[in-house]
Amino acid sequence: MKKFYVTTPIYYPSANAHLGHCYSTIAADTLARFKRMQGFDVIFSTGSDEHGQKIENCARKAGVTPKKFVDDIVSNFKKLWDILNISYDKFIRTTDDYHVKSVSRIFTKLYNEGKIYKGKYTGWYCVPCESFFTETQLIDGKCPDCGRDVVKQDEEAYFFKLSEYQDRILDILRNKKDFILPESRKNEMINFVEQGLQDLCVSRSSFNWGIPVEFDKSHVVYVWLDALTNYINLLRYPDGDDFKKFWPADVHIMGKEIVRFHSVIWPAILMALDLPLPKKIFGHGWILYGDGDKMSKSKGNVVDPFILCDKYGADALRYFLLREIPFGSDGLFSVELFIKRINSDLANDLGNLLSRSTALVDKYFNSSLIYQKSYSSEDDKILEIASELALKCEKNLDDLKFSHYLTDIWALVSECNKYIDLCAPWNLAKDDSKRDRLSTVLYNILESLRVVSILINPVMPDTSKKIQNQLGISDDSICSWESSKSWGLLPKNIKINRSKALFPRLDYEVEVEDLNKMNEEKENLKNMISIDDFSKVKLVVGEIIECEPVKKSRKLLKLVVNDGEKNRTVVSGISQYYSPESLIGHHIILVSNLAPASLCGVESNGMILAASNKDDVKVIFVDDMPAGSVVG
Ligand code: MSP
Repeated sequence: MKKFYVTTPIYYPSANAHLGHCYSTIAADTLARFKRMQGFDVIFSTGSDEHGQKIENCARKAGVTPKKFVDDIVSNFKKLWDILNISYDKFIRTTDDYHVKSVSRIFTKLYNEGKIYKGKYTGWYCVPCESFFTETQLIDGKCPDCGRDVVKQDEEAYFFKLSEYQDRILDILRNKKDFILPESRKNEMINFVEQGLQDLCVSRSSFNWGIPVEFDKSHVVYVWLDALTNYINLLRYPDGDDFKKFWPADVHIMGKEIVRFHSVIWPAILMALDLPLPKKIFGHGWILYGDGDKMSKSKGNVVDPFILCDKYGADALRYFLLREIPFGSDGLFSVELFIKRINSDLANDLGNLLSRSTALVDKYFNSSLIYQKSYSSEDDKILEIASELALKCEKNLDDLKFSHYLTDIWALVSECNKYIDLCAPWNLAKDDSKRDRLSTVLYNILESLRVVSILINPVMPDTSKKIQNQLGISDDSICSWESSKSWGLLPKNIKINRSKALFPRLDYEVEVEDLNKMNEEKENLKNMISIDDFSKVKLVVGEIIECEPVKKSRKLLKLVVNDGEKNRTVVSGISQYYSPESLIGHHIILVSNLAPASLCGVESNGMILAASNKDDVKVIFVDDMPAGSVVG
C-alpha cells in the first residue's frame, strides 16, 4: 500500500492553543484525510514541545511544577483538536518516555562520533528571569520577557558541528526538487546559508527543565535537537516498524518563521545520523488579526477558536482558513471576513444549492426522484466541470494549494446554481411531456452534489456527511475517492431526506454582539475560582512580635509573626504606610501556606492582608482575636 507521512510543528504549551496553531493543524489534517481517502496508509502527527527555559519560568510564575503546567495546556490543545475534528494518528509530547530516551541516545551517539563537542556559550542573560537570550531576541537591548537590563554571560555548553554540513545543505537547498515550498522561502534559506553556518548550541546548564545529557547530568539538551527529532522518535527510531515504513516524511507543514530550523538544522541532524531527508518542507504564512494591526474587541474580532467552533461549527472555520488565505501567504482573520465567507460560499452557494434542489425534488417528485434520462446541451458544462474536478483537486493538494482546491470545487457549485436558473425546473414542471427532462435536470444537480460532498470531505467532514444524508445515500461505495471521478452513480430512484439548512445566513451586527458576549463570559469564567481553589488558601490570625525595615529596600518591612504555633518571618511592602513600631502588638490576617519566597535576600514565609487603593494602604487588624484563630 502507498504510504504518506505528514506532520505539524509540535507546539509550545506556554499558553493555550490559538487560531495560528489551528491553521497548520487544519492544513495537515486536510492533507491526511485526502490521502486516506485515496487509499494511502497515512501517519499524521502533531504534538507538544514541552521543554525549555520559557516553560520553566511560566510554571514558576504559576506556582506549579513544569509538568503540571504543561499537562493542563496540552489537554487544552487536545480538546481543541477534538472539537476541530483533527484526525491525528500520533500525538507526541517531548516529555513522553520513549522520546526522552531516544533524544538521550541520539545526543550520546553524536557526541561519541565527534559530531557534538563541548565549548562555551555566550549570550545575553537576564538575572531576574534567569534566562539567556540571543542578540536578536532582545527588545531594544532589554530582556524580551520583563524589559529589564541584560548582561553578557558565558556558560559551558555542548555544540553540534552544524558548520560542517554547510556545503551539503546548500547543495540540497539548491538542487533537491520541491524541498522547500513556496519557492520564495527557498531563496531566503539559500541566502541565509551562504552567509555561513555557525555550530549550534545543543545543551544548557542554566536551567533544569529539559532532557538530561546522559553522560553529563549538569546539562540538559537544548530545544531544537529535542524538538526536531520528534518526527523520527514518534515512529520509534531507529528500529520501529513505523520508522522503517514511514521515514522519510512526505511533508513537514509549519509557519514560515521555523522553516530555517527545518530546512537547515534538521537536515544536518539527519545527515549526522545517516538518515534520509524529508521530501518536502512547506512554510505557510501567518494569520494576522483585525485590520492587520492589533486585535480589537470593539471591532468584533473575537478569535478564540473554541468560541468560533462552538457558534459556527468546526467546518466553517476549517473552510475559512483554507479558502481565504492562499497557503504560503500571510492573511487576515476578522469576524467580518469570516461572516462574509460563511454567507457567500457556505450559505448562499453550497447551502442554497442543496436546499433548492432537495426542495424541488420534494415538490415535484414527492421526495423520490425517478430518473429518466433526457439529455440537452445545457447539461454539458456541469458534466465537463464535474468530470475533471477530482484530478484537478488531486493536483491542487499535491501542491498544497488548499485555496485553489476549494475554488475549483465551488466552480461546480456555482455552475449548478446557474444551471437551475437556466433550466428553470419550475417551467418544466408545468408541462407533463417534459417530466423526463425535469428528472434529468434534478438528477444532474444531485449527482454534482454527490461529487462535491466527496471532495469537500477532507476540509469539511461534517458537512460532507450531512449532504450525503440529505441525498439519501446509504451506499459508501458511491462516496469513495474513485467514485468522485465517475458520473451517474446515484441510483435511478433517489429517496432524499430533506433537512435543515447546512449554513444559515448570518447578520454581521448580531454575530459581533453575540461573540463579544460569549468572549466576555469566557473571560469572566477564567477569572473565577472554585470553592476548592479558595479553600486551598489557609488564613489565620497572627500577632506581630517584631518589625524592622529590610536593608537596601525602600518599601519592605521584615516582620516576625506568631501564627499561634510558632514565629515566622514575613516580608511586606508597607514601609511607606507604617512605621515598624506602630505595627508591633497588632493582630493581622496571615496567608499561612504561601510557598516561601526570597525578597531582597530575606526569606518570607507568608503574606499579611491589607486593603489598598491608589492613595493608601491599610493593614487589616483583628486585635480582638487571638493568634492562631482560623479565618474563612
Ligand atoms: N515548538 C516550536 C516548533 C517545533 S517543531 C519541531 C514552535 N512552537 S509554536 O507553538 O511557537 O508554534 C509555532 C507554529 O504555530 C508555527 O510554525 C505555525 O505553524 C503556527 N502558528 C502560530 N502562530 C501563527 C499565526 N499567527 N499564523 C499562522 N500560524 C502560526 O515554534
